[in-house]
Amino acid sequence: MNINELRADTPGVAHCVHLNNAGAGLMPQPVIDALKDHIDLEARIGGYEAKEQENDRIEAAYASVARLIGADKSEIAFVENATVAWQHAFFSQDLKEGDRILTAEAEYAANYIAYLQMQKRTGCVIDVIPSDGSGATDARALEKMIDTTVKLIAITWIPTNGGLMNPAAEIGRIAKAHGIPYLLDACQAVGQMPVDVGELGCDYLAATARKFLRGPRGTGFLYVRAGILERLEPYMLDMFGAEWTAPDAYEMRPDARRFETWESSLALHLGMGAAADYALDVGLEAIQERAFRLGAALRDGLSQSPGISVHDVGAEKCAIVTFSHDRVDADSIESALRDKNINVSVSGPSSTLLDANARGLPDLVRVSPHYYTSEAELETFLGALRGVTGD
Ligand SMILES: Cc1ncc(COP(=O)(O)O)c(C=O)c1O
Repeated sequence: MNINELRADTPGVAHCVHLNNAGAGLMPQPVIDALKDHIDLEARIGGYEAKEQENDRIEAAYASVARLIGADKSEIAFVENATVAWQHAFFSQDLKEGDRILTAEAEYAANYIAYLQMQKRTGCVIDVIPSDGSGATDARALEKMIDTTVKLIAITWIPTNGGLMNPAAEIGRIAKAHGIPYLLDACQAVGQMPVDVGELGCDYLAATARKFLRGPRGTGFLYVRAGILERLEPYMLDMFGAEWTAPDAYEMRPDARRFETWESSLALHLGMGAAADYALDVGLEAIQERAFRLGAALRDGLSQSPGISVHDVGAEKCAIVTFSHDRVDADSIESALRDKNINVSVSGPSSTLLDANARGLPDLVRVSPHYYTSEAELETFLGALRGVTGD
């Protein structure tokens, strides 16, 4: 990996120290070009005509995203974000009163709100799998919770509020062994490390492009395993997802694009495809190795700083680092760093309420480097932080 070249490809690094890849990564030049070129083309020749002209590249974007996660192109739907992708899969489940959903303690707020909404509508039951001593979802405890009433296992692989990595593949093996549908929120994993849906054993995977994948905002995708597609009807369909074949009949598309709607931003689709190509070119294993290593270095530096508590749990940790300071609150740290062109974000308890309550977490400063972050930038951040906290 040639860091200088990769940084030269990233216009944003000339303007800020960007440590908010868990929020939105800096787009590399090929992604920016893919977006701008298509918008220019639409302006020049017309939106529908641009689609026709670029159809092969649009199709290639699906193939690239599929390759990124070891899926087939027919198993991918492009949508606006990870939440919409996840909701499509979740709300298409036929849950009834007494059916149980098993989920993780560090579940993302949007997902949990959907469980609560589904519970209100259907009387289904939400059961939280306890965490093990390391703080990760306890796969053994999960196994013991399984009976015939469990109709869905849905967990967040890497939560929004820290470096934790849940044992997604182990959970996949358990789900498969019991024939239970498995919905995986891989929003913070995609682009940060290799992802292989075959290894994970998930039936559905939801992700966004703007975070570690470094794609444009407003893009995400849903993977639906081919075998599931044969019997899964989206909770909403339009004339892109299905064809109106007779006054009282419609026929769904055979592929995962039945979850899409007729209108969408093709510039964004091309941008997401370019982001997948870029990550594949850099290499996901190399990306993971460097991003995780920078995360660990940051944790080290922070743990040696006075007044700081690092809050990441789990045996293996990713590039998301969270901390609090004993005197200065997270919002003040974030805004003081922003004044110095250093980007971090704040993760509040309500984004992962169960985990935050269980661990008594305050607002956390979330620092998320990526492979294109330089070691010098980490030093700049640590120095600036000391200035901000007065330590
Ligand atoms: C773990 C997790 N899941 C889902 C989401 C939602 O992603 P999006 O904002 O693309 O809908 C996020 C966003 O921060 C997240 O961290």
